[in-house]
Amino acid sequence: MRTDTPVQTKLADYTPYPFAIDKVDLHFDLEPKATRVRACLQVRRLEPGALVLDGIGLTLNALEIDGVEVPESAYHRTEEQLILNDAPDDFTLETDVTIDPSANTVLSGLYMSGGRFCTQCESTGFRRITFWPDRPDVMSRFFVRIEGEKATYPIMLSNGTPGKSGDLDNGRHFAEWDDPHLKPSYLFALCAGDYDVYRDQFTTMNGDAVDLAVHVDKGQAERAAWAMDSLKASMKWDEDVFKRAYDLGVFNIVAVRDFNFGAMENKGLNVFNSAYVLASEDTATDADFEAIESIVAHEYFHNWTGNRITCRDWFQLCLKEGLTVYRDQRFSADMRSAAVQRIKDVIRLRASQFPEDAGPLTHAVRPDHYASIDNLYTATVYEKGAELIRMLSAYIGEEAFAEGMQIYFDRHDGDATTIENFYACFETASGKDLTAFRRWYSQPGTPTLTVDENWDQTSGTLTVSITQSNPTTPGNDTPVALPMPIRIAAFDPSGDKIDETVIMVEGQTASWTVSHNAAKPLLSINRGFSAPIRLLHDQSDEDRLALARIDDDPFNQWETLQTLARDTLLAMAYENQAAPDAAMIQAFADAVRQNQEDPAFAALLLRLPSVGELLHEHKPADPVALNESRRAFQIALLETLDKDGQAMLDAAVPTPFAPTADQAGIRALRSAYIGLLGVRATDADRARLTALFDAATNMTERLAALRALCEAGGDDKRLAVSKFYDAWSDNDLVIDKWFAVQAGTGDDKDIQSLLNHPDFDLSNPNRVRSVVAVFAMQNLPAFHAPDGSGHKLVAGIIEECDKRNPALAARLLQAYDQWRLLEPKAGDSAKQVLKDLQNGDLSSNAADIVSRALA
Ligand code: TRP
Ligand code: ZN
Repeated sequence: MRTDTPVQTKLADYTPYPFAIDKVDLHFDLEPKATRVRACLQVRRLEPGALVLDGIGLTLNALEIDGVEVPESAYHRTEEQLILNDAPDDFTLETDVTIDPSANTVLSGLYMSGGRFCTQCESTGFRRITFWPDRPDVMSRFFVRIEGEKATYPIMLSNGTPGKSGDLDNGRHFAEWDDPHLKPSYLFALCAGDYDVYRDQFTTMNGDAVDLAVHVDKGQAERAAWAMDSLKASMKWDEDVFKRAYDLGVFNIVAVRDFNFGAMENKGLNVFNSAYVLASEDTATDADFEAIESIVAHEYFHNWTGNRITCRDWFQLCLKEGLTVYRDQRFSADMRSAAVQRIKDVIRLRASQFPEDAGPLTHAVRPDHYASIDNLYTATVYEKGAELIRMLSAYIGEEAFAEGMQIYFDRHDGDATTIENFYACFETASGKDLTAFRRWYSQPGTPTLTVDENWDQTSGTLTVSITQSNPTTPGNDTPVALPMPIRIAAFDPSGDKIDETVIMVEGQTASWTVSHNAAKPLLSINRGFSAPIRLLHDQSDEDRLALARIDDDPFNQWETLQTLARDTLLAMAYENQAAPDAAMIQAFADAVRQNQEDPAFAALLLRLPSVGELLHEHKPADPVALNESRRAFQIALLETLDKDGQAMLDAAVPTPFAPTADQAGIRALRSAYIGLLGVRATDADRARLTALFDAATNMTERLAALRALCEAGGDDKRLAVSKFYDAWSDNDLVIDKWFAVQAGTGDDKDIQSLLNHPDFDLSNPNRVRSVVAVFAMQNLPAFHAPDGSGHKLVAGIIEECDKRNPALAARLLQAYDQWRLLEPKAGDSAKQVLKDLQNGDLSSNAADIVSRALA
């Protein structure tokens, strides 16, 4: 049994690196089984100390200082480091190592995907390529020369600007790359292989021409058009909104099938999971088009927030990630509907970050310790990190925020810096002391605001008092109140707005008064989700139903209905309420009809809180009961909106297809109705769904119909599943969806047969996620089945996965972290699985999750 507690890295232990590496020459001799990497580092001493270089899995062929072989007595090696205790002050260090990319299954460092070379260096992959101080505050000027077989690897890319290239003997060729911008090793990239290339050009606001290229699988170039459009739109937007221009003559994107994440912002050479590059109407859903647009933007925006200005150490990860998510959310809001985008941001935050923050993996947006850096790429760092920037903007005002950003770009360009330095820029811009606000970065947990109303009829004053409370978390028994902007409005029941403002809650309590010499005003609180909190506001259903009709903040109109639905679903699951109230269903129907002109928004109104969200609202949580009440609610909704839905589905689909927000909205509302038909699943509904499935002209509708038929089950499901497979079996990304739809709707036996399917591939993260992550994180009634069948099945597959790809396994394991919430049978089974895993042989990534989940 594993008894060792994982070693913690601590923020407080930070010390600067004692050497500068002003320049590095990297020579690659590419061979899948034995790639030779020669590195020549120009080293300059800054402070006393040993020269410690990271290196994992490297076969050392030679080590020289200023051209002289270093004797073995002058250095020592551990499994992960090479240490020179008596390094000179100013010297050239040459290393020559051999690595085996073909055996690299962790997908970190240099590896093969689809017969091509690619790299992933964030956060600690570069040490698997060569010996190097692999930390973000050591920045260097990289010069790269790549040699490889010309026929197999006709295109060889790295960061920066292309230099010389040409032919060599033995069918080999070379390409040189020079990156003029200093960068940390985690932004290094190399890609080599045969690609089809989709090209375009962009001219920056400074008049500089940039050659843009997206590299994809042979025959897929046309499917890169949307990613390219998204790239150009991002480049323009960053100029218009943040005054940031691109800074190299080339910008390359490479799509790879095997990738642990969405994409990576390597300087001038972004590497993307192919799922976030390739799209066409027949293979991608509108959600895919939307995700591509936002991820292309995210990686592009990193060029300034991440690359030009990077992190001093990995504790500062939110400095680049939270800020860049905030930037991509604003971009998407500008490209599409701001209201719809905001609702989707919040859905994502609640689905992933709130549970994380309420469970055993809770941690601060800027933590002060970690055991495994891979496990720090969390919803808290990304999504809550973005919310903090959004709040900062509301807290100091948009103008001061915009000015603070420009100060940040001016002051820190070229730096590896910290959250403190970032905040100092906004103190300069606003003249405010942001010490209290910065506590959001060190205190985990979601704050709760409780709202009390006091209505004095005689004087016509409504006094609103707000009380903040914060959860205690491991290591923090005395949480403090946090400053936050709460947007609030009061309405007359007739619908007129009486007052609207932003209350700056600075401490534990705050209050607000409205005078109104008529009926008691209706309150709309935390409009636009101005702060990432839970709100306890004891409003009557009657007031809520009234608000749902009159609120002019689309987020809160949606939120009011969500709150009503949530309360009803809980009462149905836990308190024997048989059916949703007729008035409530009517309110939903009215809201959907009222927003017919904005179908994307109407589609969100038809979406009920997920089982995952509801899990936290009542302990012990019963996912099976929650799912049942959700289905009953959905059927009630459909009964009331049946005619609207049928009319919507009878109408012609927009042609010709375009992945625009307008068209996507129409398809989203159609899909929402299609989903409801799948839940009700009468014979007529099934026939309708099969007809829609057969007639679908785009993937959004085809997949919605397939999902609904899977939900309906039976022969209709079997037939659709096999038709879909036969039509798309040659397209990996589409088959990922085929797996995902079945994993999201089936039981443990269905999942077992998906795992046995010849196309299931444990070495491909997209495929693993489409079965295992979808089942364990989106199909909660089946995953948390009281007999433990789902838990055991998933544990077995994670154990196998952990042997080849620990970063992926650790992510999948997080499905178990909610075990304490569950009804006793499922809870015990999840706990037992975690204990069994802990007693087995786990990677340190996986062991970190398991030990925290059990702690
Ligand atoms: N920086 C990447 C982003 O845009 C995250 C990332 C990509 C990553 N690949 C990774 C993080 C591999 C850890 C491991 O958000
Ligand atoms: Zn990022």
